[in-house]
Amino acid sequence: MFNPEKFIEEQIEFMKNNVNGNAVIATSGGVDSTVAAVLAHRAIGHKLHCIFVDTGYMRKNEANNVKEMFKILGIDVEVVDASQRFYDALKGVTDPEKKRKIIGELFIRVFEEAAKKDNAEYLIQGTIAPDWIESGSGLRDNIKSHHNVGGLPEKMGLKLIEPLRDLYKDEVRKVGKALGIPEHVYNRQPFPGPGLAIRIIGEATPERVKILQEAIAIVEEEIENAAKNKEMELPWQYFAVLLPMKTVGVLGDKRAYGYTIGIRAVQSIDGMTAKYSEIPHSVLQRMSERITRELKDYINRVVYDITSKPPGTIEWE
Ligand code: XMP
Repeated sequence: MFNPEKFIEEQIEFMKNNVNGNAVIATSGGVDSTVAAVLAHRAIGHKLHCIFVDTGYMRKNEANNVKEMFKILGIDVEVVDASQRFYDALKGVTDPEKKRKIIGELFIRVFEEAAKKDNAEYLIQGTIAPDWIESGSGLRDNIKSHHNVGGLPEKMGLKLIEPLRDLYKDEVRKVGKALGIPEHVYNRQPFPGPGLAIRIIGEATPERVKILQEAIAIVEEEIENAAKNKEMELPWQYFAVLLPMKTVGVLGDKRAYGYTIGIRAVQSIDGMTAKYSEIPHSVLQRMSERITRELKDYINRVVYDITSKPPGTIEWE
C-alpha cells in the first residue's frame, strides 16, 4: 500500500543529501511538475529556480494561472514567453511525432537559456512512470514520444533528479494532497507537454490555437459545472480537439463552411487505458450550442468521441 507521507519524507531526505548546489525545474502548472517543485522546494528552498515556458500552445490564461497558483504555494516562478518561436518552428508541420520532436527540442533550448544564469548543477523533473514506459524504455513499443522525458540533462550537463519516477498519477495526487497543495491543483486533469499543438490535427497555427483555446475553455467550464451540479461524474481528462477539415453548415440564412470541434472526455486511473465518459446529452448539447455560437465564424460542427483506449489513444495525435 502506497504511503505518501513516508514517500515525502524519503524524497526530501534524499534531495537534502544529494542536491548540493542550485537546481532548476520546468514547471508546467500540471500536477506532476507542481508536486516535484513543492517537494524540491521543501528540500532545498531558495536554491530551486522554477521556470514556466509559455510555448503558445497552453490553455487560455495558463501563464497567469500558473503564476498565481505558485504564489499561493509560496514559490516564485519565472514566466518565459516563447510563443512566437514555437509558432515559427511549427510552421507547415503536420506530422504529430515531428511536432513533438520540434517542441521538445525548442523547449530545451528556451529552458536552457533561462536556466543559464543560475549556475545550476541539478535538474528536477516531474517525470512519472507512464511517461517513460510509453516512451519506449523497453517495456512497450514507442507509442508516442512524450516530450518531457530525456534530452534536457545530457544537453545541459545537469544531474537529473526525478523524485516521482516510479509513481503513477493517482499516487502523485496522494502526494500532492499530503503536501498540502490545494485540491483544485493536485486533482487537475493531465495536460500533455506539447499542449494544443497535438490537439490541432494538421498544422497548429496561432489562429487555430486561439479557436481551440476558446473551445477547451467552454468544454472545461461546462463539464466542471455539470459535475459540480451532480449531473455527471468529473472525467479523468476532458478537452476539445480541432479538426481543420471543413464541412458545410448554415449560419443565419447563409451557407457556412467551417471547422469541426471534437470533444474528448475519458475515465482512467493512470492514462494507460481509458474508457470514454458517458456524458449526458443535455451537457453535450450545452457544449455544442456554446461552441457553435461563441465560435460561429469558425466552427459549425461538434462531435463527441466515443472511443476507448485501446484502440484509440486519449489524445488524437
Ligand atoms: P495518450 O494520448 O497516449 O495519452 O493515450 C495518455 C496520457 O498522456 C498524455 N500525453 C502526453 N503527455 N507529452 C506529455 O507530457 C506527450 O507528448 C503526451 N501525449 C499524450 C495525455 O494527455 C494523456 O493524459
